[in-house]
Amino acid sequence: MRVIIEPDYERLSQWAAYYVASRIRKANPSENKPFVLGLPTGSSPLGMYRNLVELHRKGEVSFRHVITFNMDEYVGLPEDHPESYHSFMWTHFFSHIDIPRENVHILNGNAPDLEKECAGYEAKIKAAGGIDLFLGGIGPDGHIAFNEPGSSLASRTRIKTLTTDTIIANSRFFGNDVDSVPKTALTVGVGTVMEAEEVLIMVNGHNKARALQQAVEGAINQMWTITALQGHRKGIIVTDEAACAELKVSTYRYFKDIEKDNLCPDSLLRYRVEN
Ligand code: GLP
Repeated sequence: MRVIIEPDYERLSQWAAYYVASRIRKANPSENKPFVLGLPTGSSPLGMYRNLVELHRKGEVSFRHVITFNMDEYVGLPEDHPESYHSFMWTHFFSHIDIPRENVHILNGNAPDLEKECAGYEAKIKAAGGIDLFLGGIGPDGHIAFNEPGSSLASRTRIKTLTTDTIIANSRFFGNDVDSVPKTALTVGVGTVMEAEEVLIMVNGHNKARALQQAVEGAINQMWTITALQGHRKGIIVTDEAACAELKVSTYRYFKDIEKDNLCPDSLLRYRVEN
């Protein structure tokens, strides 16, 4: 697993955005061979989306031949609710880029048969040829997508009950009213994410320090579902200094040293030269 430690959230977001853009450009996608992205919501990826929109505006990257699959969606929240993940994605990303509407896939939390919806989603990912790059954030308890502690590390897309911790954490988007937060969600499984060719996780802020410590130094286990990333062939975590607070000094120094030539702004300069 690679761990890229950037000084702050803005640099982390730039790093992630340039990485995504360079992967898409390198793949040189076409109608017959599209690039398939897995996408997250939450506050962690907001800066990356902002930077990707900027890169698109500058003509550096096109999403015309990109297919996307979002990680998760609340159950029972109307699609046009401002806090639905549908709204989030169109507000912060899709409306500002050239992706064709039919290339966007987001789980339907209002489907009449939720189990069928989940099985169909897995089938669509397969039909698209699998996911090339899955992007994600993590919760303070180390959950990935809505794979709460105790989720099987082999899990697939399904309905999940949200923990009280997650409901409280996400109530900030619902006027701090825990009763307004949906209690269940549809989510891709840990296994679905880990099947992607590559996985890039963004971790920022002091409140994620314990989760990052588990992700990097902990043993692989179902109580911190992000630890599954250790078993992935191409797992990358990009983080900021604040989230590193619980790492051992030796771990921190190790990754700082081994990735010293791959940080912003060096990597941004190289991106321009190489791509
Ligand atoms: C939710 C989402 C996760 C996200 C997590 C952290 O639970 N389902 O995908 O990683 O929140 O969100 P934030 O980035 O806002 O801290």
